[in-house]
Amino acid sequence: MQNPDTTSPGLSHSQTGVTPLPYWVGPVSHVWLPRLVAIDSSWNPRFWSQKLFEGELSNPASRVRGLFSDNELIGYGIAHVVANEAHIVSFGIASKNRGKGAGEYLLRDILSSLSAEGVSVVTLEVRLSNTIAQALYTKIGFDIVSVRKRYYSSNNEDALTMRLKVSDLGA
Ligand SMILES: CC(C)(COP(=O)(O)OP(=O)(O)OC[C@H]1O[C@@H](n2cnc3c(N)ncnc32)[C@H](O)[C@@H]1OP(=O)(O)O)[C@@H](O)C(=O)NCCC(=O)NCCS
Repeated sequence: MQNPDTTSPGLSHSQTGVTPLPYWVGPVSHVWLPRLVAIDSSWNPRFWSQKLFEGELSNPASRVRGLFSDNELIGYGIAHVVANEAHIVSFGIASKNRGKGAGEYLLRDILSSLSAEGVSVVTLEVRLSNTIAQALYTKIGFDIVSVRKRYYSSNNEDALTMRLKVSDLGA
């Protein structure tokens, strides 16, 4: 499937002499709604409906960024922005693309575009059992700031609230 709204990965290999990255980040259009649900449902027991994702695409406070490879959406992140703070409400990479640097690449891109619009603090919630996501967030510079008891109604699991001062973004 082609997505006319994806941004270019930049100059081609022949123009730069540098091997291009296998993926690029860009805005997500309505054509990708079924794919957003498919990616979300691969890990989220209470996965979002197409209508919910559609609401995010039209919410002026919402920033929806997609990670694309070979004209396929392979990951996405959604942040809500209020003044100089952002909260990441959903973030994930399609199962077969995990463990290859895609999540870190997308998250860094999201944080850099939030920073460019003046965001200085980013927060998120993550399941206590989701040590993989916690490792990624910690690597990037997020700290645990609190525990929210029984935050996830699917299994009453606790959430960790993590917070990043964008100026502390790790290399
Ligand atoms: C969490 C998630 C986004 C990470 O994306 P990814 O593309 O697999 O991660 P990357 O390959 O970019 O790895 C980046 C870092 O994440 C951590 N990480 C990734 N896979 C890991 C694993 N299997 N075990 C431990 N840490 C891991 C590491 O810190 C890694 O850095 P390193 O390679 O220097 O060790 C992805 O696993 C995912 O989509 N999971 C399901 C959805 C989810 O949990 N979303 C977060 C909700 S809060």
